[in-house]
Amino acid sequence: MSDIAKIEVGGKTYEFPIVEGTENEHAINISKLRGASGGLITIDPGYKNTGSCISEVTFLDGEKGILRYRGYSIENLAEKADFLEVAYLLIFGELPNEEELNKFHDDIKKNSIVDDDIKKILDAFPKTAHPMGVLSSLTSALTAFNSSSVDVNSEEKMYNSIVKILGKFPVLVAWTMRKKQGLPLDYGDSSLGYVENLLKMMFKKPNEEYQNNPIITDALDKLLILHADHEQNCSTSTVRIVGSSHAGLFASISSGISALWGPLHGGANQAVLEMLAGIQEDGGDTEKYMAKAKDKSDPFRLMGFGHRVYKNFDPRAKIIKVAANEVLEDLGVEDPILDIARALEKEALEDDYFVARKLYPNVDFYSGIIYRAMGIPTEMFTVMFALGRLPGWIAQWREMRLNKEPIGRPRQIYTGKNLRPFVSVEKR
Ligand code: SDX
Repeated sequence: MSDIAKIEVGGKTYEFPIVEGTENEHAINISKLRGASGGLITIDPGYKNTGSCISEVTFLDGEKGILRYRGYSIENLAEKADFLEVAYLLIFGELPNEEELNKFHDDIKKNSIVDDDIKKILDAFPKTAHPMGVLSSLTSALTAFNSSSVDVNSEEKMYNSIVKILGKFPVLVAWTMRKKQGLPLDYGDSSLGYVENLLKMMFKKPNEEYQNNPIITDALDKLLILHADHEQNCSTSTVRIVGSSHAGLFASISSGISALWGPLHGGANQAVLEMLAGIQEDGGDTEKYMAKAKDKSDPFRLMGFGHRVYKNFDPRAKIIKVAANEVLEDLGVEDPILDIARALEKEALEDDYFVARKLYPNVDFYSGIIYRAMGIPTEMFTVMFALGRLPGWIAQWREMRLNKEPIGRPRQIYTGKNLRPFVSVEKR
């Protein structure tokens, strides 16, 4: 491919360099377009054809169903690594050796205490509050208790805020769930592994010794790895653009949580379970819901299907589908919802409408089934997604800051009223 792109407008030809990535992707660098053309810009609602940055963190190929973190395949990492190793890899670019991993975990443990006054903020929420709204608020509130984590313009200060959020976030996740359940807020046990400690904080009964279930711990560790990053998705792009104003890491992460909450994005895992439960209550008639999904006059969409980038199987969905079978079998859980999911998937994969639009199951289609088998409440599913995505948000935010990227400020094409005179209220 040529290294120059030519755009001809109004009889004039403009030339722009073509950027080539390490995986044979190409982009036209139009950063000089407006200046060179006296005002021309491009427009691309939803950024379906527009790259926002160059990045070394994650590579995915939607047509081939490939996903790699820093060059390692998601299949390899899900099978051989643990979540904290993957977090280190995403954030710092290399898999840690034993000493690096132990120091990273120790630094996280040292920063895993949350100021008790955060509980006063938590108390102010009604039990009906959605956990994602609570988590986003508490994450932003961390800024008030960790002011040194706002103006982080050195790698050392960045590292300190990174281990703080990695230490405190699981506590906020557990407290958000337990507050809704009316259970005491627990700090877990820092002698445990990262995921095991999270599960203990979430599930320890006040009147019982906590028994770790390695099946659940291992399954959750794998799920968190599978959610850890996904290049410039909606919530990660949000974290990058908020961070580009030099808002602190916690404020940027808080904005990412809000973006992830939407049912078209991370909120889909909750929406999938609610959809499957609805189909089950309605007699399990999957064909009826397939018809609704294809009916343009019906706002219903098949949640957990389709993807902005994957026009093939989401590689994470493939791994989670196998894990769902294994976890339910290991836990001895018979869940009719899984049968409905399998029936729906089979129908969709054979349906012309879905095949023509390359709509395949995505990461959210099966994950909720595993969370449910673990005893995680449906409203907490997207919170689990947020915990998984935390290292990716951090990695992308750190890359953006270290690359000294300019503040994100898109242009627009104005289509409103032309200049008109003010009319006083008595004359309107
Ligand atoms: C995540 O970006 C990421 O990487 C996200 C994520 C990550 O890890 O960060 O992978 C996580 O968000 C996964 C996606 C979870 N969302 C859902 O499962 C919600 C259901 N899916 C859809 O809403 C939709 O597929 C999106 C939002 C995921 C993608 O939407 P696009 O790319 O904007 O595609 P589109 O809406 O333009 O759809 C193209 C066509 C349309 O029909 P036509 O106008 O061509 O006739 O496909 C149809 C859509 O109506 N379509 C669906 C559908 N998804 C798309 N029809 C029925 N059911 C669906 N789920």
